[in-house]
Amino acid sequence: MSETGKHQGIFEMETYKKIVYPNFSREVLGKLEPKTFLDYGCGDGYMATLLEKNIEKNLYDINHGGIKEDELKKEKHSYRIIDSLTELKMEKYKNYFDVILLSFVLICVQEEETYSDILKTIKYVKKEDGKLIILDCHPCFMKHRYSYFYTAYSENFEYLSDTEKSFTKIIRGYDKNDPSIKKEVSFRDYHRPLSFTINTLVECGFKIIKMKEWPDLGFDIHKKNELYPPLYHLECK
Ligand SMILES: C[S@@+](CC[C@H](N)C(=O)[O-])C[C@H]1O[C@@H](n2cnc3c(N)ncnc32)[C@H](O)[C@@H]1O
Repeated sequence: MSETGKHQGIFEMETYKKIVYPNFSREVLGKLEPKTFLDYGCGDGYMATLLEKNIEKNLYDINHGGIKEDELKKEKHSYRIIDSLTELKMEKYKNYFDVILLSFVLICVQEEETYSDILKTIKYVKKEDGKLIILDCHPCFMKHRYSYFYTAYSENFEYLSDTEKSFTKIIRGYDKNDPSIKKEVSFRDYHRPLSFTINTLVECGFKIIKMKEWPDLGFDIHKKNELYPPLYHLECK
């Protein structure tokens, strides 16, 4: 971890996998006891592997190539990969899901129209009494770093390394097929104000029923920062 990362309440990817996501899936998703679950923007699909085996898990991501099926298969989870938005919008998924998760997805969305479209699709596929759970960076601390991802691909990962490029993450690595070729990929995060999130949810027909801030537990090598919670989640219906 970089020097700047040590005291900022930043979680490493391993911490997410070992502590944050298991806590969250047990304390929030598991307690809702869904029969049908959709992880929208599921990434590698890790959250689904933490849920009870008998829950029907549906995974959708705009880039579904990243889903790691091995873990789900190994543990004999009941799961389905939804390949496209067109498939998700089919009649059979109307009012279908008990719980839908958006975990660190809205923070990746640049266009406000796409943001609303995602919520409208979720409204369509969610059961009337189903729940939408949004997990994201805390919106009141928009200028704080919140995470420090390290993947096998990344040689170095800069986050908010200078103010000009705030919220742009840069991953440096090598071409898988030719390790002599260096590669650089950058991503931008969009830390929107809470009012934007609330207003857009309401416009898309949701009611917010709960908000919880997730404190910095100080579980990486960084010093615990009690003054700011790096994450929050919203429960909506
Ligand atoms: C930061 S990752 C989070 C992955 C996973 N939800 C997690 O918590 O580990 C954001 C994910 O959102 C997906 N994503 C971004 N925009 C999307 C969209 N418009 N529709 C569906 N997925 C999207 C990306 O492909 C990526 O896998």
